[in-house]
Amino acid sequence: MTPPTELPQPRRPGTYRVALVCLGNICRSPMAHVVLEERLADAGLDGRTEVTSSGTGGWHVGHPMDRRAAATLAGAGYDPTRHRARQWSGNDELDLVLAMDADNLADIGGRSDRVRLFRDFDPLEPGGEVPDPYYGGDSGFEEVLAMVERTATALVDALVDALADSLADAPEERAT
Ligand code: 4NP
Repeated sequence: MTPPTELPQPRRPGTYRVALVCLGNICRSPMAHVVLEERLADAGLDGRTEVTSSGTGGWHVGHPMDRRAAATLAGAGYDPTRHRARQWSGNDELDLVLAMDADNLADIGGRSDRVRLFRDFDPLEPGGEVPDPYYGGDSGFEEVLAMVERTATALVDALVDALADSLADAPEERAT
């Protein structure tokens, strides 16, 4: 069954908060973070969205991205240098939490309307996992980037719709 791509409305009008979660926060979710932020800026939504990423494990907190992840992003024209790894701490303020694989999803409490798999939005193979490239070769990082790029594009389309709906639902300003 194809997972739903309609997004929950923002908890509060203003900023839509998206969190990306993997295991170490040095490979998959940072790559998705950098690509999604760039796609959102291209769509003019950078002022209305906030993207964060984190890992369920704390081994790499404060570290920059894995050098293979960074090299793959840089080779495709993205800036990987600003990332510093964080550990997932849960957050009731988030509008949408997207896990990279089923273990990550289970580790943050499982699926809900606001907690899903990142690749639920993959237009090519919806509902899959982003495989962990950490223990593999460089080709794994290229594969992750391709999944992340096409999924981020579709996710931005879904965010455009959700934000348009939230504006339409907002009470009209009263003329005084
Ligand atoms: P990530 O990859 O979850 O995509 O950041 C990993 C990074 C580090 C480890 C595992 C996966 N590790 O075990 O240190």
